[in-house]
Parts: sequence; structure tokens; C-alpha cells
Amino acid sequence: MALPSINPTTTNSWQKLQEHFATVKNLQMKDLFAQDSDRANKFTIKWDDFYVDFSKNRITEETFKNLLELADDVKLKEAIKSQFSGEKINLTEGRAVLHSALRAPESSVIKLDGENVVPEVYNVKRKIESFTGQVVNGDRKGYTGKPFTDVVNIGIGGSDLGPAMVVEALQYYKNHLTTHFVSNIDGDHVNEVIKKLNLETTLFVIVSKTFTTQETISNANTIKAWFLNSANEEDIAKHFVAVSTNIESVKNFGIDANNIFPMWDWVGGRFSLWSAVGLSISLATGYHNFDGLLKGAHKMDEHFKNEDFKSNIPVVLALISVWYNNFFNAESEAVIPYSQYLNQFATYLQQGIMESNGKSIDRNGNPIDYETGTLIWGEPGTNSQHAFFQLIHQGTKLIPADFIGFTKSLHGNQDHQNKLMSNFLAQTEALLNGKTKAQVVAENTPENIIPFKVFAGNKPTNTIFIDKLTPESLGKLIAMYEHKIFVQGIIWNIYSYDQFGVELGKQLASKILKEFSGEEKNEHDASTANLLNYYKKMS
Ligand code: F6P
Repeated sequence: MALPSINPTTTNSWQKLQEHFATVKNLQMKDLFAQDSDRANKFTIKWDDFYVDFSKNRITEETFKNLLELADDVKLKEAIKSQFSGEKINLTEGRAVLHSALRAPESSVIKLDGENVVPEVYNVKRKIESFTGQVVNGDRKGYTGKPFTDVVNIGIGGSDLGPAMVVEALQYYKNHLTTHFVSNIDGDHVNEVIKKLNLETTLFVIVSKTFTTQETISNANTIKAWFLNSANEEDIAKHFVAVSTNIESVKNFGIDANNIFPMWDWVGGRFSLWSAVGLSISLATGYHNFDGLLKGAHKMDEHFKNEDFKSNIPVVLALISVWYNNFFNAESEAVIPYSQYLNQFATYLQQGIMESNGKSIDRNGNPIDYETGTLIWGEPGTNSQHAFFQLIHQGTKLIPADFIGFTKSLHGNQDHQNKLMSNFLAQTEALLNGKTKAQVVAENTPENIIPFKVFAGNKPTNTIFIDKLTPESLGKLIAMYEHKIFVQGIIWNIYSYDQFGVELGKQLASKILKEFSGEEKNEHDASTANLLNYYKKMS
């Protein structure tokens, strides 16, 4: 069964939301709090170790009710069922979308074309577990008989961002192996990494679902050539492993068949860190922590599948985001984790959110005349407070923000933790309440300066409190955003799991590359032609 394809703007709930918007758009959240002493409780979801307060949003009970009706009108329930049951909902690529099967318990039965995929998932998991054990314990050695000290993940996009983000996020749980990530085609990137390595003790993990990606294959070849300056062809088997669906090309690269970790076309690149793409996570933190991450994600899957929409965290966050995107015309959303460990979280989410929902053709193949994918950006607090918060507080744009905080710190420095979290709470409170002219005047502010010190407030935030940053809670958090992406794609009536938009630039780049070597001559616009000639002259 295909996904429902309902233009959301034609639904009853959308009409209601539109009329309702006209009456509530200027409401002040602080008045809503004053009118209802139970507002914070009404708009809070407590689940497991998550406490999600969405009361600081420009919504009333009626808004919420209408948004929940929208979820029903676009047949979200049916869509969730289709995804989890292995239907080929990625219609434009003819694929199922089963990243949730990667984190399902071994006893689950998830059928694709009549075959249960869970046993093969567990075969690969066992391979990851045993390989990780051998590398971490030092039983597996490099070509000169030394145990490994460093791991280099060579991949880009989903084959880089997820593992890189998680390895950084789980730094506290890391073992002795030093992990590096090479992604960019910029040769300075790979050379800077090579500079730090001792090849006798370095393991290279080439991650590419297709094994055709220019960046990854070029970087892998450069590293292989560097390796072969000192070692022999037969040593490659000891130092290079690969994660891919393209087994033939991996073998052609010279990688031993035993060193291939398969993945499947039903796992999208940006949703793949749960597969063998996460091998560097397992190597860096140990298999038990990788497994913990998967278990957490599975718990979120169950919550998403089974919970009523009104207390379903990904559904509620998605609906609120649609409210701002499509009714308030907010263009972007910020994600602000108050944890330095989540330094790369927003960058990771950018691929997940923008590659998935940056679409303008609907599921019927027609151009869309309403807004879809949000821009996503962010940096950890408190650093971001000293960078871009000025614009969120006093700029002209409405920027809804997710504040993610952990109630306990990992190193247990309570003084720092209290300072961190006092900032967290202060910011969401300041964004809500702002600062009135009367308050500014009361501070003896000179007359001509008063307007500059007034804060309008009424800036929406979600607070996502989690007890502690663990592999499991991180798994839940990532899965929460994955499901939010899916819900929004369903509402916007788009296909979230293809990414044709990245192809055009790739094709043109390969033509231009051939012009550099004189192999091809192509027509260009005058600007590109000038720039190309300038580059050829100067490079
Ligand atoms: O940027 C496009 C893309 O296909 C992403 O979706 C993917 O994560 C990335 O390239 C890398 O692809 P691969 O794993 O096949 O090298």
C-alpha cells in the first residue's frame, strides 16, 4: 500500500487552523500562562527519562486540538504503520524504509517482500560485536604485529555525520582508540588526518552505501596509496574494512571479503548510523555502548508507534513545527543543546531534516504551493548565547527553538552544571517574557536608549530535559528527530526518503573536472566560464 497523498491545505483541520491562526497570532504567551495556572502541566510530556515541556509555544488548547486533527486528516497513523511494516514507502526509489528494523529486538519479525530481515540484521550485529572486541582487546593487529591505536572513518553525508556526531557525543564512554573522520574531497582534509597517523597501528573503515561517492573513493584511494608506500598489497586486508551495499566494488578496491560489513538498500544514508555504518561508534565506545544506543532508539520507536498523538513526543514536536512553518511563516528552527558533547548535533540534523524534507513536489507529482522543509541550525549553549542569540531575542525573525538539556552532568561538577542549567532556564524564560518598557525605565535607563533595551518576548521554545547523556538516551533523542522528520513529510505530502536534489551539482562537477584536464569542452553561462578560466590560469 502506498502512502496516503493528501494535500494538507485541502483538509478541514487546515482550514480550521487558518481561521484559528487569525485569532491567535498576536496572543502573548505570558498572558496564556497568566490565564491558565495548569498550562505548563497540560503541555508537558513525561516519558521514560524525557521531560518535554512544549508550553512555551504560541498555541492554545484549540490550536493543539486542530493540529492533532491535522495528523488524523493526513492519515498519519496509517503512514506510520506502512513505514514500520516494511512497505515500499520510498516510492521514488522503490524502497522500503526500515532503519527501525536495525534496532528491533532479535525476536521481532519484520518482513520485506515476504522475508524476515531481522536475522540478517543480527548476523551483521554479531560481526560488528566480534570485530569490535578483537580490535579493542588488541587481538587483531596491523601488518607489523602491533595492536591498533587509531581508527579512521572514511565517508561523507550519512556515512560520516551520524558516526562523527555520536562518537563526539559519547566521548565520555570512549576507550583508548583515537577516532578520526575524513569526509571532504578537499585534499587538505585527508592530508591533515594522515599527518597524525602511524600507519602500522591504524585501521581504516571505508563507509559508503553505494561505494561510488567521489569524495569517499578519492579519499580511500589517497589513503591506500599512502599506505602502500610502506606496506604491501596483502597488508590491505589487515588495515582496511568497508561498510557498503556494493560488495563487488568493495572487493575490486582490494578489500578482503571477510572485512566487508553489508548494509541494505532499505536503510537511507542519513538514517544509517544504526547499521554497520556505526562501526566506528562501536569501535570507539565498545559494542555494548553501540547496542545501548540502538536499544534507546528502539524504545523511542515503540513510543512513536504506540503512544496517542497528544502525548507522542515526535508527533507533537512535528505538529508544533508545522504550525510555525506554515502559519507563522517561520523559515528556520534552532536546536540548542546545553551540552558540549552535542557539538555536532545540529550539523547532523541538517542532513536528516533538510535532505529529507527539502522538497517542492508532492506525493502526487505536483508542484507544492505551501512551505515544506524548515532550515535547521544551532550550536551548543552557552556558546551560542555569545554568538547568535541576539538575533533570536531582538531580531525581526521568528525562530522557534528546541532547548535540549541534561539534568545531570557526566563529570558531576555541580557548580558548572548549575551555572549551565541556570543559563538554559534563563534563556527560555527571557524568550518567553521579554522585557517591557516599564522594566527598562525602572532601571534608570536614559530616555533615548530605552527602545533598544526592550525585548518583545513571545519567542517560542520547546524544552527537552533528559536525565543524563547515555548511549541509550542519545539513541532516543536521535530517533525522536528521525520520527519528527517523517511526520512532517507525511503532513507536507512529500517523499522524505529520496534526495535527487544532490545529483545535479554532482553531474556538473564531473563535467567541469573533465574540462580541467582538457578531456571535455562544455558550454557555460558567462560567469561560470570566466570563473573556470580564472581558476585554470591561477591553479
Ligand atoms: O549527499 C547525497 C548522499 O547520497 C547522502 O544521502 C549520503 O548520505 C551520502 O551521499 C553518501 O553516500 P554513500 O554512503 O553512498 O557514499
